[in-house]
Amino acid sequence: MSRSAHPAGPRHADVLPEGHYTAPADDLNALDPKVWARTVGRDADGVVTVGGIPVMQLAEEYGTPAYLLDEADFRERARAWRTAFGDDADVFYAGKAFLSRAVVRWLDEEGLNLDVCSGGELATALSAGMPAERIAFHGNNKSPEEIERAVRAGVGRIVLDSFQEIVRVAHIAQSLGKRQRVQIRITVGVEAHTHEFIATAHEDQKFGIPLAGGQAAEAVRRALKLDGLEVIGIHSHIGSQIFDMSGFEVAAHRVVGLLKDIRDEHGVELPEIDLGGGLGIAYTSDDDPREPHEIAKALTEIVTRECEAARLATPRISVEPGRAIVGPTAFTLYEVGTVKPLEGLRTYVSVDGGMSDNIRTALYDAEYSVALASRTSDAEPMLVRIVGKHCESGDIVVKDAFLPGDLAPGDLIAVPATGAYCRSMASNYNHALRPPVVAVRDGAARVVVRRETEEDLLRLDVG
Ligand code: LLP
Repeated sequence: MSRSAHPAGPRHADVLPEGHYTAPADDLNALDPKVWARTVGRDADGVVTVGGIPVMQLAEEYGTPAYLLDEADFRERARAWRTAFGDDADVFYAGKAFLSRAVVRWLDEEGLNLDVCSGGELATALSAGMPAERIAFHGNNKSPEEIERAVRAGVGRIVLDSFQEIVRVAHIAQSLGKRQRVQIRITVGVEAHTHEFIATAHEDQKFGIPLAGGQAAEAVRRALKLDGLEVIGIHSHIGSQIFDMSGFEVAAHRVVGLLKDIRDEHGVELPEIDLGGGLGIAYTSDDDPREPHEIAKALTEIVTRECEAARLATPRISVEPGRAIVGPTAFTLYEVGTVKPLEGLRTYVSVDGGMSDNIRTALYDAEYSVALASRTSDAEPMLVRIVGKHCESGDIVVKDAFLPGDLAPGDLIAVPATGAYCRSMASNYNHALRPPVVAVRDGAARVVVRRETEEDLLRLDVG
């Protein structure tokens, strides 16, 4: 494929307007294994492949934009978490990151449990055959219908998020003649080093019951008295995209402190603690995430140490990774449309999707990487901003990146690490049709979530 160069635009690394970028990689065709799914590579023609299939072929068959999900990688990462925590702990995959029936089956087969946070996620999990006792049900405002459905289904635990919910769940369970296993979600007052919107353990926010002022202790006091509830443990989730383990250390210390107070006051040792999810992944080569076995070792050691100090038997630990499992396993494939060089600034590259398939850049100022996927190129690096086709100037997918200077309409580009919180947060803004999720494994591809159609849109619009 021969491509003509574009008219003058900022191509060179020495033309750097404002932005958050590092210098272009020495080889723009290289695919850093830190940010790409494990079976991704390039074939002899330089085309990016996943699960052994070139993206040109996938684009032809399934269209663009599309999320391409590396099933082998998903399973490997799920298994790595499971193995790292072993049989004395439980791994609940956080379905909010991305959930489909295929994913539920993979999780079931790999021995993971599932965290759901809405009636819709619960329905997906149950319809794919996840045993109810391996499901945890979360949410700060579960409706009575959702609670009833979860209790009737027999979910393994409901995570209680407020004083009102303690009473509500107890009442519903009792009226169904059941005793529901519950954990109580507390906020431990940790400031996680992450974006404000995804930090969840400080007190001034909607989740959980503050440890401060004895509120969490009071919640446990009330819950222990209710016949409809079996209190099995305490839950803490400190936030998302976290690399520094010190926040978990403080959280574990405070949760164990509460377990000790509960033992001292009520003579009961609660058997479980859940430390939530939130472990970070690499979106760019600058990020350095930890491996599951390092995380498991660190968390287990912290809890064991704290419990020994408090003379408590070590409770069963559970964790809820979402992003760390699915995030790195998918990338979004786009076709390049308009290429607009802005003199002295950067080149705006418009793709056939945008904020409707990846809202994270606009919402959290998230950083992503990008690569030319349909071919390689030796052209000089050009500073680009990858933007979508929506009617909004904040419709940015990748803020600052370098791509080869001969990039042209019709090229395919790929944005890695879009497995988490992209399809699950996708919207129909501007009546965009949400892209499909195509799972690829060992040279075979299959659609696990199909592309939306105009009929789908119009079906909801009842006139
Ligand atoms: N457990 C609980 C109780 C949670 O609230 C969450 C995420 C998780 C586990 C999973 O966290 P993960 O391991 O995936 O970080 N939309 C945002 C992230 C919101 C996370 C909400 N809760 C984003 O795109 O970054």
